[in-house]
Amino acid sequence: MNADLNSRPIGIFDSGIGGLTAVCELRKILPCEDIIYLGDTARVPYGTRSRETVLKYTVQDFEFLKRQNVKFSIAACGTASSTMVGESRLFGESCTGVIEPAVAAAVEKTENQRIGVIATSASIRSGWYERLIRAALPSASVFSKACPMFVPLVENGYTARDCAPTVEIAKEYLLPLKREGIDVLILGCTHYPLLSEIIADILGSGVALISSGAEAARFAKNALAEKGLLRQGREGKVKFFCTDSPELFRESAAHFLDIGGIEVERCSVE
Ligand code: DGL
Repeated sequence: MNADLNSRPIGIFDSGIGGLTAVCELRKILPCEDIIYLGDTARVPYGTRSRETVLKYTVQDFEFLKRQNVKFSIAACGTASSTMVGESRLFGESCTGVIEPAVAAAVEKTENQRIGVIATSASIRSGWYERLIRAALPSASVFSKACPMFVPLVENGYTARDCAPTVEIAKEYLLPLKREGIDVLILGCTHYPLLSEIIADILGSGVALISSGAEAARFAKNALAEKGLLRQGREGKVKFFCTDSPELFRESAAHFLDIGGIEVERCSVE
């Protein structure tokens, strides 16, 4: 038994609130775990920055979580994750990004082997979603599209199903993918599940949506179970940190996700 290790929290970070999609899934599937969430809100968005800058932020975010004594960390940010692939010497084993788990789910789900990927410009530019899909399923056709307007729309609350500006922009991004006949779409940025209704309305019920944050949460559960590090017993707590105003974080978080009255602390990760 690893009683001490088991009782440590799971760390999750994102540039902003998108990673809360992973928190919600983790709360569902591992209700006894304590979670430490970091939203690097002072530096959001990551998706428009260079690889070097995002890699530096990613290392700092993981270091912060390690200082909180976590037993496993999730980069619940597609953009941060795109800098991690092939860099295990920097990040070690007790962590995951969202790309590999999302790719595994998409490859398993597709029937016609036509897979769409939407993510930030930096994630799409990295090419990792596409490369890993082809490595797992060489016969797959992959259609990728950067959707740079989605993160600011989500961070500003433009997520309602009938929000006209978001619907228009989403059509612009998604109709070309629909025309390609995809049957699975990876939401490769963790902010995007907050637009799921709009995305599903445009693509129709024949396209399965894969939430990269939720898949990473499931991956973390399996990794911890394999190591015998799951925690049992009382209900877990979530502690939130952000690098900009806690009030603003609380507002956006509570607005989007049902996570109750939350305690948020401002921190520095540099
Ligand atoms: N949630 C993020 C991602 O999954 C980040 C968006 C951003 O900071 O640009 O890529």
